[in-house]
Amino acid sequence: MTLRPIVQLDNPILRRRAIKVTSFGPEFQTLVDDMVETMLDAPGVGLAAPQVNVSQRLIVVRLPDDEESREEYGDQAGVLYAVVNPEIIKASKTRLDGVEACLSIPGWFGSVDRHEAVIITGLDRHGKPLRIKARGWQARVFQHEIDHLDGRLYIDIATDVWKAKDAEDDGEELTEAEEHARRSAD
Ligand code: CO
Repeated sequence: MTLRPIVQLDNPILRRRAIKVTSFGPEFQTLVDDMVETMLDAPGVGLAAPQVNVSQRLIVVRLPDDEESREEYGDQAGVLYAVVNPEIIKASKTRLDGVEACLSIPGWFGSVDRHEAVIITGLDRHGKPLRIKARGWQARVFQHEIDHLDGRLYIDIATDVWKAKDAEDDGEELTEAEEHARRSAD
């Protein structure tokens, strides 16, 4: 497995609609492995293929499984998903506001309204159909990643976007929501 560089906001690949995956051969398996390793190393809780400069419809998602995360996310903590050609087929009417960060836009936060729960269909890394029910933070991550596949970034839909305070410069600390978003960037 190899770490791949995460492309940044100025890279036009982030604005392209990614193409459907149709081949599940060795090259694709390497891409999945590399994306998982790159996400965990960042560290992040999700990554979309365009973020590693591959314009294909593939996302990986994994909420951390440290003690704090297990308390917060319950049985969602530590579960790894690789979803190919994901689609949201159902979304809750209930929406929640939350603070997000993106590995492709370091140093910034945004307040984003998302569906509280979603049902996602797609394929696993070997092309087998799968269906995922996600709620809470995990549902937020899936929506953020699927947006990446359509060239959409959280800053496009955020109700507010702001730059992270530089804690070392001015002694100000991140808010709890910012700290959470930084630990859970995708
Ligand atoms: Co992102």
